[in-house]
Amino acid sequence: MAVPHVIPYQGSKRLLAPAILAVLHERLAGQPVHKLYEPFAGSAALSLAAASADLAQSHVVADSYAPLVGLWQEIVDAPERLADAYRLLWNAGEYEAVRHAFHTEPTPERLLYLLTRCVKAAVRFNRQGAFNQAADRRRRGTHPDRVAQQTAAVAALLRGRTTLRTGEALITTADAQAGDVAYLDPPWHGTTTGRDVRYHSGYAQDDLVALIEALHARGVLVLLSYDGKRAGRDFAQTLPTSLVRLDLPAMRSAQATLLGRAEWTTESLYVTR
Ligand SMILES: C[S@@+](CC[C@H](N)C(=O)[O-])C[C@H]1O[C@@H](n2cnc3c(N)ncnc32)[C@H](O)[C@@H]1O
Repeated sequence: MAVPHVIPYQGSKRLLAPAILAVLHERLAGQPVHKLYEPFAGSAALSLAAASADLAQSHVVADSYAPLVGLWQEIVDAPERLADAYRLLWNAGEYEAVRHAFHTEPTPERLLYLLTRCVKAAVRFNRQGAFNQAADRRRRGTHPDRVAQQTAAVAALLRGRTTLRTGEALITTADAQAGDVAYLDPPWHGTTTGRDVRYHSGYAQDDLVALIEALHARGVLVLLSYDGKRAGRDFAQTLPTSLVRLDLPAMRSAQATLLGRAEWTTESLYVTR
């Protein structure tokens, strides 16, 4: 079954999700997954792929960016309303006006429209915290018919088995326990030089180590995506030795594919020993 997908998002793991799930399958060796946590959800590509494969009994999809979780809530609770509101914005085609309105009221349909139209599907902010990514003039944004169809499919997939949470990963995973799995895909930006204001939030090395240790202390199986090129070598050395590194097969870069280029990326996955 094709995995439905609604939110275009820079750094989405959509193309890598099958490879990550294959590792998880092997590691589980037939054990069931009670709950799958994705605390740095973004477009929640891994949760969608896992739900399509009926891998876990239930899901926690969480992110610290509140408007994004608001969009997820609308996708699950009111997919038709979202698709209708998106269609109005798409038909009008006024990106700057939507971006301006989003600053005062960050509604789900505005965020979805901005993400389908902006450069690199990347959430970027100015120093005042306002979304300031420009429109990509080559893109009109996902066609509303497709949005309607995909939101309905995603809602059907997640509804009744998914809890959405807004907040810091350490908090949104605080109730994870043995039998649960946490898939971590934190932002790497600003990890060595402090917080980079262009991004919603960086994630410090110490925070990541504390998160992994807290999850391991409760017997949670952890999978961590790690892009060596982006994160830098030093970062890998600070990761707990309770994780083992696996190299995923090289993939075409999702971002480059979106922009019509062919580039390859190699990513590692760290998994609880
Ligand atoms: C690399 S993206 C995840 C992409 C995701 N794997 C996907 O498939 O789309 C990282 C996400 O972490 C979120 N984030 C940043 N800091 C966070 C924190 N401290 N706790 C939870 N989420 C955070 C960002 O808003 C962003 O959506």
